[in-house]
Amino acid sequence: MKGKRIFALLVIFIAGLFVFFNSTSTEAAKAKTPKASKEGQACITCHKAQSPAFVKEWELSRHAQKGVDCYSCHRAEKTDTDAMQHNGFTISVLVTPNDCAKCHAKEVKEMTTSHHAKAGDILNSADNYLGQVVGGQEAVAVGCVQCHGAKVKMSANGKLDTNSWPNTGIGRINPDGSKGSCSACHTRHNFSKAQAREPQTCGKCHIGPDHPQLEVYEESKHGILYEANKERLNMHKDKWVVGVDYSAAPTCATCHMSATPNQAVTHDVGARISWTLRPPISKKLVNDAKKREAMKDVCGNCHSSPFIEGHYKQFDNLVNLYNDKFAKPATAIRKELMDKGKITKADFDDKLDWMYWELWHHEGRRARHGAAMSGPDYAWWHGIYDVAKNFYTEFLPEVKRVAGPELYNEIVKKYLDPDVRHEWYTKGMSKEQLEKIKKYYEERYGGAAAK
Ligand code: HEC
Ligand code: HEC
Ligand code: HEC
Ligand code: HEC
Ligand code: HEC
Ligand code: HEC
Ligand code: HEC
Ligand code: HEC
Repeated sequence: MKGKRIFALLVIFIAGLFVFFNSTSTEAAKAKTPKASKEGQACITCHKAQSPAFVKEWELSRHAQKGVDCYSCHRAEKTDTDAMQHNGFTISVLVTPNDCAKCHAKEVKEMTTSHHAKAGDILNSADNYLGQVVGGQEAVAVGCVQCHGAKVKMSANGKLDTNSWPNTGIGRINPDGSKGSCSACHTRHNFSKAQAREPQTCGKCHIGPDHPQLEVYEESKHGILYEANKERLNMHKDKWVVGVDYSAAPTCATCHMSATPNQAVTHDVGARISWTLRPPISKKLVNDAKKREAMKDVCGNCHSSPFIEGHYKQFDNLVNLYNDKFAKPATAIRKELMDKGKITKADFDDKLDWMYWELWHHEGRRARHGAAMSGPDYAWWHGIYDVAKNFYTEFLPEVKRVAGPELYNEIVKKYLDPDVRHEWYTKGMSKEQLEKIKKYYEERYGGAAAK
């Protein structure tokens, strides 16, 4: 009897196990099966043959799990400016922030009010004159506008004009009037958060001689720690709160966008910065104290407040050094030469214009970005070193050449003499300074090397 009962229990137990495992495996399979509407299924069936890779990417996305299919995003009304007829459906190729806003209103609102959405409005900038006129439109199309975005135009047949498309520039101006491109960071068709958290995502645009944020980051301790600990950063987690879900290193997103225990995710990348480091002379932004507090709250998960204060003090000092010692006098001197007719008022037609341009737009920005984000090589060698070399050995000698000796002396008196930090140049190094340097090398390398 006893043996039979044990045997029966065992059978029931094994059967139970079988049902259990079977059901969990179908549950798992169900979770992975993408959901689609009738219309969406038509797109998928045909596009599996036409463009299998991005159907696959969609299948692996969060959208597919939630039943957000091709038609949910690409559907359009016949009256839409960007509508086209496509195999019995009315669709648009572009899926603009207006389209995403149907389900993601918060993100769209934040992005739309940020500088990112304004990045396509560069037509009247000096940069644009440089691009369009000095360079050429063909270069602007594959350069500037791929980062900044520009107006995407429609062709007569409802297709996109190939002079202005493809484009995922951050401030793209869409035919429906909306601004921005969400796929600038959330690359199609996976639209993943994890990918957007990677520094390389920002690095498509935040790179190069005039805004080397990616290079600064890679050089910084933060970038080093990111490289060394990538697999510990839990990039794929749904919630990604610094100090809770990861601790090894911050990425660009951590500092500028992602959540902290006290702050939600923001799509306004300006919400945590207090200076603008872009113009010839840096300025503090509106509400700078509040914005700086928001950034310090991020740092506070990994650093103590005296450490953070120290960082900001050194950063402010560098920006002030750049502004006061170099940028303000260079700007004023160039203006005076223009006013006195020594150079023209147009940009880029005098040698001095190019020297001035590189001083603030390349070298001066690099120094400021290096100091903001702990990249010492950019703060100094690619930064203030280049600023100083340009200012003293190119800019001022050129000022002297176009001004003539008399006006040059006036300029020196007016703009350089009030700041003792230029004395080494205008009056020469003092005897004591020269003596100190000589002595240093004698002590360090011995008499022979000093000779
Ligand atoms: C009967 C097949 C078929 C169906 C159904 C279909 N497509 Fe397409 N679709 C194509 C082909 C083929 C192309 C590529 C055309 C080319 O390469 O010139 C295309 C291109 C596209 C493009 C790019 C158009 C462009 O001008 O760049 C989009 C966007 C698109 N399809 C979305 C959809 C959506 C959304 C659906 C469902 C509502 C859908 N398609 C249904 C076959 C289909
Ligand atoms: C979450 C919204 C979303 C979903 C879902 C989606 N798309 Fe797209 N799709 C986009 C965006 C965004 C673009 C890029 C256009 C832009 O920059 O505005 C795009 C571009 C395209 C293009 C043109 C891209 C190229 O490289 O030629 C095709 C074709 C396309 N989608 C087809 C599909 C198909 C088929 C599906 C379903 C399997 C699908 N899309 C699902 C948002 C979506
Ligand atoms: C590699 C991508 C990229 C290219 C190419 C590029 N830019 Fe930019 N541009 C940026 C980024 C990123 C910034 C913001 C830098 C920062 O905040 O430090 C910027 C800043 C600017 C600004 C300053 C905006 C402000 O609010 O102060 C202007 C104007 C500008 N760019 C115009 C242009 C023009 C015109 C061209 C082509 C001649 C061009 N850019 C090429 C990425 C790019
Ligand atoms: C500058 C890059 C960037 C752009 C542009 C961008 N995003 Fe994001 N987005 C991110 C990052 C980074 C995250 C992940 C934040 C986190 O959780 O760490 C994210 C997260 C999201 C999430 C998930 C939010 C959550 O709480 O889980 C949604 C939805 C989203 N973005 C929608 C959009 C839409 C819609 C647009 C266009 C209006 C857009 N994003 C443009 C970088 C960007
Ligand atoms: C029809 C509604 C709908 C539309 C339209 C839509 N989404 Fe989503 N999106 C969702 C849903 C639902 C989720 C899953 C939210 C969740 O898991 O809590 C999601 C999740 C996301 C995420 C987070 C993905 C992750 O890795 O967890 C991003 C990023 C995102 N969407 C971006 C976009 C962008 C960009 C567009 C426009 C091109 C867009 N979505 C259009 C409904 C939509
Ligand atoms: C497709 C190009 C592109 C990508 C990708 C991009 N940016 Fe930008 N970003 C820009 C441009 C261009 C500007 C300057 C806009 C202007 O002022 O007109 C800018 C400005 C900014 C600013 C200054 C905002 C302000 O209010 O002054 C911050 C901070 C920033 N970006 C952070 C990021 C981060 C973090 C990422 C990645 C998660 C990122 N960006 C991805 C192009 C891009
Ligand atoms: C450890 C935090 C941190 C990380 C990581 C970080 N930043 Fe920053 N970023 C800052 C701080 C701090 C500032 C200056 C804030 C201020 O002005 O008060 C700044 C300033 C900026 C600016 C404004 C520049 C301007 O011209 O006004 C941009 C753009 C930017 N960062 C982009 C990036 C990008 C892109 C990455 C990744 C490659 C990145 N940041 C990584 C903290 C960070
Ligand atoms: C996720 C944690 C994390 C966040 C967030 C973070 N840091 Fe760091 N930071 C570190 C670690 C770890 C180090 C390496 C310390 C060491 O040298 O041992 C570091 C190093 C530094 C250094 C020293 C650089 C050097 O070369 O010695 C400075 C300055 C700094 N961080 C400033 C900041 C500021 C300012 C913020 C906020 C804008 C910030 N950090 C945000 C983790 C973080």
